[in-house]
Amino acid sequence: MKKEIVKTVKESDMKIIGEDLARQATPGMVLALIGDLGAGKTTLTQHIARGLGITQPITSPTFTLINEYREGRIPLYHFDVYRLERSEELENLGYEDYFYGDGLCVVEWADKVLDYLPPEAKILKITYGDTPEERRYQWLS
Ligand SMILES: Nc1ncnc2c1ncn2[C@@H]1O[C@H](COP(=O)(O)OP(=O)(O)OP(=O)(O)O)[C@@H](O)[C@H]1O
Ligand SMILES: [Mg+2]
Repeated sequence: MKKEIVKTVKESDMKIIGEDLARQATPGMVLALIGDLGAGKTTLTQHIARGLGITQPITSPTFTLINEYREGRIPLYHFDVYRLERSEELENLGYEDYFYGDGLCVVEWADKVLDYLPPEAKILKITYGDTPEERRYQWLS
């Protein structure tokens, strides 16, 4: 993964990035997504899920904090910590079993839990581009 800014003009670029990430995913990989409301965190996660071979619909686990999908090449653990109020909630979830586990973890709103991420987590920032269809991607680690 390169530390550079990638422009996406269309959502189809997001599909390519997601499928690439799915191919690279190994057990215990943590992909931390940072980006505003509507930046495309869930959209990217959906493409990763498809790339892993998951056919179930991927919806944001806003109220449950985590959704698990076991249908693909490796498990996908989809976190959305937007509504996390205290970090103890993450500890109560047993987050370490996921972060250091047998699947790929994708974490939306990862800026809220930076201290909990494994040192080798891949941090991706998604920001709005100049047009409504454009997003910018930046690998922070
Ligand atoms: N280039 C693009 N990449 C990703 N999404 C795009 C792009 N252009 C438009 N969109 C649209 O932007 C929206 C992104 O919504 P999405 O739910 O993925 O964002 P999110 O970052 O998960 O937001 P939230 O913080 O609410 O969870 C979708 O409706 C998607 O179709
Ligand atoms: Mg989302």
